Amino acid sequence: MIANLINQLENICKEAEIEIASIASLAQLNEINIKFLGRKGLVSKLMSEMRNLSPEDKPKLGQKANEVKGKITEILEKKEVELQASEDEEKIKKDKIDVSLPGTQQKIGGLHPLTQTINEIIDIFVHLGFTVEEGKEIEDEWHTFDALNIPKSHPARDVQDTFFVKSSPEIDCSDNQTVLRTHTSPVQVRVMQNSTPPLRFIAPGRVYRNETIDASHYSMFHQVEGLYVNENVTFAELKGTLLAWAHAYYGPEVDLRFRPSYFPFTEPSAEVDVTCTMCSGKGCSVCKQTGWVEILGAGMVHPNVFKSVGYDPEKVSGFAFGMGPERIAMLKHRINDIRLLYENDTRFLKQFV
Ligand code: PHE
Repeated sequence: MIANLINQLENICKEAEIEIASIASLAQLNEINIKFLGRKGLVSKLMSEMRNLSPEDKPKLGQKANEVKGKITEILEKKEVELQASEDEEKIKKDKIDVSLPGTQQKIGGLHPLTQTINEIIDIFVHLGFTVEEGKEIEDEWHTFDALNIPKSHPARDVQDTFFVKSSPEIDCSDNQTVLRTHTSPVQVRVMQNSTPPLRFIAPGRVYRNETIDASHYSMFHQVEGLYVNENVTFAELKGTLLAWAHAYYGPEVDLRFRPSYFPFTEPSAEVDVTCTMCSGKGCSVCKQTGWVEILGAGMVHPNVFKSVGYDPEKVSGFAFGMGPERIAMLKHRINDIRLLYENDTRFLKQFV
């Protein structure tokens, strides 16, 4: 009986040795461990015969079983080291990084062409001593129109141009409704209300008009407002300031042309053209053969505007201007459709990075 059991144990050991020699992965190693040495494994199963043995044979079987377990464990451990080493080697081979390969190029962002234009405009005025102010895009009618000498009957207040903001579900019947500002001029009013002359600032920002969208009109666009108020400000100073700006922005060869115009909040008023930079003033399709392109509106602050903010028009005077950065950017980059500026097509935008 004992001889037979010991023989079986030896066979188990040989079988284990053969199986271990043929395995190729660490996972299989574990299976074999369970099969031979596990709680329900072949060795344990054989040990259940122990209770049928005579007292002197029991230790013999125990000793042999320990010997076999030790041997199998030893072979398993050796195999594990081998397998681990070859798996490591595989991994190193597979994960090898070829440092000589060219890198993947990262796409970098850039400022929007319009932002670039506005920043350049601002920089020049800051160098001329102007500060930068901000107002509200959602304004009231008083700051947008009344305080700027734009009477109730003025077409600019027409519902067709102005976006009204409903402040309650009922129709707002008050005479000072909330609107999206149609120009940046209300910033003039807000700044004057909160400070005393002299003051000199620009106010860049978005404006909104209920317009039919086409290649040169959009329902949202930008303006850069400017205001200078002091004692004895003259139209010559307005011309000098704008010319200094134009020379810094376009170069010393350009000239400005002031055409008499009308704005309710300035008197006298002018529309201002700059020499067409495409043809240096000779005449081309961009300037419609005139040699000039209009870029801003300007004038001397109307006395009524000063009155509405509590300034004495007998004591102070000032000039104001409002330029259109979309138009300036489009002329500079020969962009023929304003919609390109708002469609966020990266094929268009990446040309300006
Ligand atoms: N607010 C005017 C407009 O929107 C521009 C302007 C500003 C004109 C300041 C004169 C003075 O067209």
